[in-house]
Amino acid sequence: MKLPDGPRTPSLLQTIHLIAQPTGFLETCAQRYGDPFTVRVLGLNSPPVVFFSNPQAIQELFTVPSKQFDFSKATHVFQPLMGKQSVILQEGRSHQRQRQMLMPPFHGDRMRAYGQEICDITEQVITQWTPGSTLSTHHYMPEITLQIILRVVFGLDPGPRFQQLKQLLSSLLEDVTTPLYSSLFFFPPLQQDLGAWSPWGHFLRRRQHIDDLIYAEISQRRLQLDSSRTDILTLLMSAHDDNGQQLTDIELRDQLVSLLLLGYETTAAALAWAFYLIHSSPEVLQKLRAELDTLPCAPEPEVITQLPYLTAVCQETLRIYPIGLICVPRMVKEPMQVGGYEFDIGTILVPCIYLAHRRPEVYAEPELFKPERFVEQKFSAYEFLPFGGGSRGCIGTAFSMYEMKLILATVLSHFQLALADRRPAQPVRRGITIVPSSGGVQMVITGEHKRKQG
Ligand code: HEM
Repeated sequence: MKLPDGPRTPSLLQTIHLIAQPTGFLETCAQRYGDPFTVRVLGLNSPPVVFFSNPQAIQELFTVPSKQFDFSKATHVFQPLMGKQSVILQEGRSHQRQRQMLMPPFHGDRMRAYGQEICDITEQVITQWTPGSTLSTHHYMPEITLQIILRVVFGLDPGPRFQQLKQLLSSLLEDVTTPLYSSLFFFPPLQQDLGAWSPWGHFLRRRQHIDDLIYAEISQRRLQLDSSRTDILTLLMSAHDDNGQQLTDIELRDQLVSLLLLGYETTAAALAWAFYLIHSSPEVLQKLRAELDTLPCAPEPEVITQLPYLTAVCQETLRIYPIGLICVPRMVKEPMQVGGYEFDIGTILVPCIYLAHRRPEVYAEPELFKPERFVEQKFSAYEFLPFGGGSRGCIGTAFSMYEMKLILATVLSHFQLALADRRPAQPVRRGITIVPSSGGVQMVITGEHKRKQG
């Protein structure tokens, strides 16, 4: 069976290129080989990996019954971090069951109950800012989004457990994005506990410390179950599946850690891009400011999140720099046809978000940051897919869009900012996300906005 064309260089070189310059590698392959293209990235004798960006093929991939794919080929690397019961490691019925229980708190009225808290946390963090100073969005955005996750997902109130978890989780994530640590996850033979000073030993001890804090919180909540609470842990503790079963403590722990690790760096990175892109385009900044100026004093979160230009700015940010470049890779379990090609068992198929968002026939001048395109036109779920789609689509889609809008609006309603460095930021890999290179994230506070009187 003939596979789509692709680079012929040794798989090791392709792997290095993809890791070191992911966006450049994808663009080069798309220019040279078109869509779809095949790469070899997982080592010798590895299966072919086929990337798709055509909306028609992406639709096919999102609608194939999930039992025809094995998703664990790519997700198993997360097991030591997130645990065996994590939603991202489940397949089939178990995956469906967990999604069914995890989705409701991230939608509708339940999600909207967190709006004011998101604005309050943002205000609290930015009260430290003073005009004339320089700040790094790499520092402040994760600070805000991690606090939000700990408060709304865990329902943790500020205190020693909150502080300890915040510190441990952010240093864990800091570590796992370094090349040394991340290679441990990809090469299980390196996972040797040689004491607290060895990399794996250090990881295991830190994970144990995090788990102790999480299990302590779960058991305290079980003892004093307060069903009036609206945090996601409380909702998950009282949720039942179709058979009336509740989540076990291990399942709860694994879901909480997964939501934390997937939920805060991603939104923080999207916000870093949003600040960079907005302040790189005076016209966009001016339009956004004009829209924010129409807000009443102390607006309801709902009023903010319905602003059309603010929404378009967030969508266009995620179009131009989707934080995840690809959806979860899918290994074919039974021969199938996608995009007019036949694929054998074992082939890995990848919907490529980054390339789908840069197709000139869908997005005119795709390299330009033009939020207006989202005001003027609606794009299908196979053309605009920053949160992936199909059976594995992101659980935090609505929540993170909601969060992004509230944080952006809160910051921009208080301060005038400018980029500290005029050089264009480049997308660089940080773990599984794509973030702006360091020059793009330093902002200067050039002024403060007068609060409207009520
Ligand atoms: C801007 C922010 C975010 C982006 C760009 C993003 C993107 C993604 C993408 C691309 C996927 C893979 C989807 C696929 O393969 O089709 C994913 C999966 C997932 N995301 Fe997000 N995400 C974000 C925020 C969040 C938040 C806030 C949470 C929860 C607190 C979250 C939880 C998850 C979970 C649990 C999955 C796995 C779903 C499954 O395997 O069934 N994400 N996300």
